[in-house]
Amino acid sequence: TMRSVALFSVLLSLATPCSSSDEEVLKPVTKEEHECVCEGSSCVTGNRCRGHQCFSSLTDSAGTMVSQKGCFKVYEQSTLTCKTPPSRDQIVECCQGHLCNMNITVQLPPKGTTQHYPQYNGLSTYSVTTLVTVIVVPIIALIFFSAVAVFVFRRIHRNQMERLTTRDAEYGTIDGLIASNVGESTLADLLDHSCTSGSGSGLPFLVQRTVARQITLNECVGKGRYGEVWRGQWQGESVAVKIFSSRDEKSWFRETEIYNTVLLRHENILGFIASDMTSRNSSTQLWLITHFHEMGSLYDYLQLSTLDAPGCLRMALSIASGLAHLHVEIFGTQGKPAIAHRDLKSKNILVKKNGQCCIADLGLAVMHFQDTNELDVGNNPKVGTKRYMAPEVLDDSIQMDSFESYKRVDIWALGLVLWEIARRTVSNGIVEDYKPPFHDVVPSDPSFEDMKKVVCVDQQRPNIPNRWFSDLTLTSMAKLMKECWYQNPSARLTALRIKKTLTKIDNSLDKIKTDI
Ligand code: ADE
Repeated sequence: TMRSVALFSVLLSLATPCSSSDEEVLKPVTKEEHECVCEGSSCVTGNRCRGHQCFSSLTDSAGTMVSQKGCFKVYEQSTLTCKTPPSRDQIVECCQGHLCNMNITVQLPPKGTTQHYPQYNGLSTYSVTTLVTVIVVPIIALIFFSAVAVFVFRRIHRNQMERLTTRDAEYGTIDGLIASNVGESTLADLLDHSCTSGSGSGLPFLVQRTVARQITLNECVGKGRYGEVWRGQWQGESVAVKIFSSRDEKSWFRETEIYNTVLLRHENILGFIASDMTSRNSSTQLWLITHFHEMGSLYDYLQLSTLDAPGCLRMALSIASGLAHLHVEIFGTQGKPAIAHRDLKSKNILVKKNGQCCIADLGLAVMHFQDTNELDVGNNPKVGTKRYMAPEVLDDSIQMDSFESYKRVDIWALGLVLWEIARRTVSNGIVEDYKPPFHDVVPSDPSFEDMKKVVCVDQQRPNIPNRWFSDLTLTSMAKLMKECWYQNPSARLTALRIKKTLTKIDNSLDKIKTDI
């Protein structure tokens, strides 16, 4: 239509020419007709014709030079048009105006010259533009964004360092403190004193830093996506140093925040000593220093060791006690908010020399304050370990704004830990190998979808071996764990109920022993 032709010409006139051949394309198509000189075989109506463009051409037809002049209409369909690219065999020149082609004589270049003609269908016409857009622009963009990223990271790093400096300023100078306070004390002295002086579980910040910088690292005892755990030494005492990988810095911040704001001293919660942030070769090193437990994690322990019924109960009860302490809110000056762990598993539980366990890794924990009904979920993008995820986490039906939901997710995971322990408890000389929960139905490092299929769709639960039912302790444990695994989160037992039941079983076991 006329409108589309007009639009097309406007678009053409707006386009930026990138080569001489483009310019020809860009000439506006005029509707005005001109009289042109007509010469050659096609001039059937005489030596004049009318058209929108006049042309003059020269064609090498098998060695014979054919010269033509004439007219082109707007929609020229012939093989020869104003757009015909010049070549060694043919050249066309167009013009607009009355008899404008009269004095145009086109010439083919002499044979053998290596003149380069613009190609309409090849690379060269568009190569400059294409090259710029496809290669140069992305490279410039990449350099630009890298520069911005470096700038932002440096800024963040500097802010972190400034925060540390501010912290120092609040607590005085390092040297004075080392000399006056830390000098001859043992960790127990320092920690005992700090319990009565501060609000959190740890030492004053400056003492934390001083202790951290006096630690020598001895051996790496664990390594994973989270970073590394080292056995270190501080004034002759063993300490555990968890060095966080930079991608898990949010976990360090959260754990540090919780230990420093909440009084978390319990025999079944890993004891906190200090947190430290240092700058090393322009990267930030994040340390969490805690009590060292030479028997390692429950996961490591169960690989190599088996338990008897009292040992099993002792461990189970200690974990339930630790979790009950985390879950409960205690009011008053020495109180604590309710805390849900959100990543309970055998790798996050440590075995103590007295046969009890303690719960570690509060990097994902959430806090709840009943008086204000405040739920502090932190800002860690990490999620719990997939293998231990409760059905409501896997199918996303969890009520994320309710603290109760997070406790129930912990209880699901506690049930799985009890199952891991019970498998390694010998009864009538029989014991199962160590296996992680759902070992038989999902691959190692299962995906979210793997877990969802097993736990939500098929509603599978860990298998309870028959031999457990001929043992009092294991039968009770089986009943308990089943009550941690209800699909309906609100039907599950609480940590306190599990703790009380395990205490009763423990007491009845003692009674049987004394009766005998
Ligand atoms: N692995 C992780 N944390 C540990 C700790 N506190 N003691 C010993 N081994 C550990």
